[in-house]
Amino acid sequence: MAVDPKRLAGEEAVKLVEDGMLVGLGTGSTAYWAIVDIGRRVKEGLKITAVPTSIRSEELAVSLGIPLVPLDDVPPGGIDLTIDGADEADGELNLIKGGGGALLREKIIAAHSKRLVIVADASKEVETLGTFPLPVEIVPFGFKLTMGRLEALGGHPSLRLIQGEEPYVTDNGNYIADCRFGVIADAAALETTLNLLPGVVENGLFVGMAERLILGREDGTLSVR
Ligand code: 5RP
Repeated sequence: MAVDPKRLAGEEAVKLVEDGMLVGLGTGSTAYWAIVDIGRRVKEGLKITAVPTSIRSEELAVSLGIPLVPLDDVPPGGIDLTIDGADEADGELNLIKGGGGALLREKIIAAHSKRLVIVADASKEVETLGTFPLPVEIVPFGFKLTMGRLEALGGHPSLRLIQGEEPYVTDNGNYIADCRFGVIADAAALETTLNLLPGVVENGLFVGMAERLILGREDGTLSVR
């Protein structure tokens, strides 16, 4: 029987969830499987609370009966474990995230998590970041000017659209510019440079944040780094 590698990775990560934890719930088709499995364990008596990284993960968690706490009630660094997906992960566990548009909330939750565990199918593992377009969240005010700055940095930005027409709007009311920088040799430097541009809210480079990468494969095997 065919195995879904995303499900395999998501469910493997949920083995790290223990009673009493405050858990960060990621976003995307891999994090989905982790949330579903957490919901199953909550129904069986697991006692946790959670914070979601997007409105859709929040809705899924609520539908599964996972108890949520408002992020404003969480002390700095108070999230025990976050399970999230990624669009690319390199050998040092630096990531590109935000393919699903949730990068800002994901980075805030990751920054206050004691452990960030990334779940993905094996296609997300890369030698160097940069094949997947880097999502950059920008404010709508003056977005064309901001995209001009991204272009000047060599990012060849495209405004993310819904059905090729309207701009995609994030949970925070912003736009996404998907950038093609080519091979990203220094992810830390680019992450900082981008966030210094007026109009940029956050970008999808997650440098030095992930503790573990769980990759699922179609043959039913897993690798953990
Ligand atoms: C959303 C994300 C996702 O985690 C990332 O896009 C991976 O998604 P998927 O598991 O569906 O491949 O960063 O903002």
